[in-house]
Amino acid sequence: MSFSKDFLWGGATAANQCEGAYLDDGKGLNTADVMTAGDAKTERQITDGVIEGKNYPSHVAIDHYHYFKEDIALFAEMGFKTYRMSISWGRIFPNGDDAEPNEAGLKHYDEVFDECLKYGIEPLVTLSHYETPLNLLKYGTWTNRKVVDFFVKYCETVFNRYNGKVKYWLTFNEINSMSMSPWMAGGVSLDADEQTRMTAAYHQFIASAKAVKMAHELNPEMKVGMMYGGLFSYANTCDPKDVMANDKFMKEMLFYPDVQCRGYYPAYKLKEFERKGITLPKLDGDDEILLEGKVDFLSYSYYFSMVCGQETKGFSVDCGSMNTGYSNPYLPTTDWGWTIDPMGLRYSLNLFYDRYQLPLMIVENGLGAYDKVEDDGSIHDPYRIDYLREHIAEMKKAVEIDGVELLGYTPWGCIDIVSAGTGEMKKRYGFIYVDVDDEGNGTFNRSRKDSFYWYKKVIETNGENL
Ligand code: BG6
Repeated sequence: MSFSKDFLWGGATAANQCEGAYLDDGKGLNTADVMTAGDAKTERQITDGVIEGKNYPSHVAIDHYHYFKEDIALFAEMGFKTYRMSISWGRIFPNGDDAEPNEAGLKHYDEVFDECLKYGIEPLVTLSHYETPLNLLKYGTWTNRKVVDFFVKYCETVFNRYNGKVKYWLTFNEINSMSMSPWMAGGVSLDADEQTRMTAAYHQFIASAKAVKMAHELNPEMKVGMMYGGLFSYANTCDPKDVMANDKFMKEMLFYPDVQCRGYYPAYKLKEFERKGITLPKLDGDDEILLEGKVDFLSYSYYFSMVCGQETKGFSVDCGSMNTGYSNPYLPTTDWGWTIDPMGLRYSLNLFYDRYQLPLMIVENGLGAYDKVEDDGSIHDPYRIDYLREHIAEMKKAVEIDGVELLGYTPWGCIDIVSAGTGEMKKRYGFIYVDVDDEGNGTFNRSRKDSFYWYKKVIETNGENL
C-alpha cells in the first residue's frame, strides 16, 4: 500500500473554462471573457471588450453552471474524494471593487458545495484561476496595491460564507505564469516589461499571504496552498554552461514557490533585481505579511517537461506551448507538441519535497487529445488511460520509495472543458465527454469514456489497480 487511506483522488476544472453562463445572475465580465478561441497554430486574441461576431469560448463553455448537479453526480460515480474547482471572482464581486457582494453568485457556489458534500466530495477551491474582473483594468489590475485590498475582501467574503463547507483553498492558479502569460495570470498586458510583471507578482504574493493568514484566523482547520504552473526543465547537455543556463531558467520559476513556501524572496532573486534595477513596491510591514502568510501545502500542475541550455535566451508561450528553443529527443509528444514524461513527475515531486518539506498535491495532470465518438456512442481513449497510468505509477514511487508526502491527485479537465492555451473544445482531457464543439454548438450531453471506468477502478483500489 502506498497512498494514504484518506488520499484525495479527484479531478479539476476552472470556472471560466467550464461554467459558461458568462452574464447570468449578475456576473461581471472578466479577463477570460474577452479571449477569443484559437488553436494549436493560432494564438487566442484579447479584444477590447466583447466584440459581436467573435467566438469567446468562456461564454458558453460546457454550461457547467447549469449542469453542475449532473456533473458532480458523475464525479461521485467515479468515487471522487475531492473536486478542485474555482470560484469566479466576478460572480461574487461583478466589478471587483463593489461595496457589497452579489448574493446570487454566493448562492450558486453554496449549491455547488452542498452538492459535493452530499456525496462526501471535499471541495478544493482555487480563488483566482486565470480570471480577473475586467473592471479592475482601470486600476492597472495587479500593478496597483488597491487590487490587493479588493482581492482580500473577496477572500474574506468567501472564507466566511463557506466556512464549514470548504476546507482546502488555493490562492492563485499557476502564480508563476505572471512571468509568461501575465494576462491570464492577472489581467496584465502581454507587452508589460519585467518591472511591471514583478510588481504585479509582488502584489499577488502579498494578497495570497494575507488570505492565508485570514483563513487560519477564521478557522485553523482551513488549509491554504499555493499553486505552481509545472514548468520543469532538464539541461540540454552535461556541459556546465548548459547546466547553468538551465539553472537560471528554473530559478526564474522557482522563486515563486520560494516566496510562498518560505515567506521571503530568495537571495538569488534579490541580487538579480539589484542588477536589473527592478524595485519592489514594498510597504512597511510587508516582510511580516509574507512570513506570516506562508502556505500550508504546495500544489502544482504537471503535464510535460522541457529542456534548456545556452541557446535559451528567453522563453515564450506559443499557442499554449512553452518554447525554450530545445526539444527532447527521448520523449514522445502529444498532438499539441507537449512532451510526455511520467518520470519527470517523480523528479518534480522530489525536487519540491526536498526543497520545502511541505505536503504536496498534484492538482493538474492529463492528456489533451482528440476523441472520437463511435456510432454506438462509446469513446475509446486508451491513449489517455496510458498517460494517466504511467504518471500515477511514478507518483506512487515518489510516495512509496522516496517518502514524499502527497495529499491528493486531481487530473485536469476531469470532464471535457475549454482549453486555456488554445480556447478549443477539441483538445479534450476528460473522463466524461461533453457533446459541444469549438463554436459552442452541440447537445451538451455528457457520456462516459473508457477512461471513466478505468479511473473509477483506480480510486476504488486506492491506486493499487492501475
Ligand atoms: C494549466 C491551467 O496551465 O493547464 C489550466 O491551469 C489549463 O487552466 C491546463 O487548462 C491545460 O492547458 P490547456 O492549454 O491544454 O488547456
